[in-house]
Amino acid sequence: MKHGSFLVFEGLDGSGKSTQVARLAEALRERGREVVVTAEPFEGSEWGRRIRAMARAGDPLPPDEELSWFWKQRRDHVEQCIRPAMARGCTVVCDRYYLSTVAYQGARGLDPAVLLHESEVEFPLPDLVLLLEVEPALGLERAGTRGEPSEPVFERQDFLERVASVFASLELDYLERIDARGDVDAVHAAILGALRGRDLLD
Ligand code: TYD
Repeated sequence: MKHGSFLVFEGLDGSGKSTQVARLAEALRERGREVVVTAEPFEGSEWGRRIRAMARAGDPLPPDEELSWFWKQRRDHVEQCIRPAMARGCTVVCDRYYLSTVAYQGARGLDPAVLLHESEVEFPLPDLVLLLEVEPALGLERAGTRGEPSEPVFERQDFLERVASVFASLELDYLERIDARGDVDAVHAAILGALRGRDLLD
């Protein structure tokens, strides 16, 4: 059976992931590839929907419980969407995956090395992760996030600085860093270049 490739976008909120996911999917389809675009938290999972509701309510869970929700939505996502799409020979383009858990739940105090190890043991490895890098302050500005009234902006920025430092510490051969400070076309071109460099694009 022909297996498709599995491409993941990671980065801070406001790094431009959703725009670049859409641009890459379009570019791949123009080349005749069948593409499945998907995202985490996965809406097809009860756990993904619970996470989104929790985020909207601004009501954080204890880190261990939050981790278990992210893990459960990922199991559903892999089984219901990612594996079947790859088995059909599709290219899967996914907005966030387990490196978000490593970085965000790592920033909440869990051990990033343990989260990474357990993720790589349990979940399919991506062929390539495109890490879109922006300064946390630029991400916040782009995302239009000014912080919750109960949560001063500096605290949120402080949290995102910790997320960014976990992302910065990752050394993985399936990870490619993309400078995402430029305009949409320049970032898209860098992404296509990264795929070509790894023989994932003709
Ligand atoms: P996302 O859907 O990217 O936010 P938005 O829809 O606003 O672009 O993700 C929601 C938040 O969940 C985001 O701040 C990152 C966080 N997150 C984790 O903390 N751990 C994870 O494993 C994942 C996938 C996301």
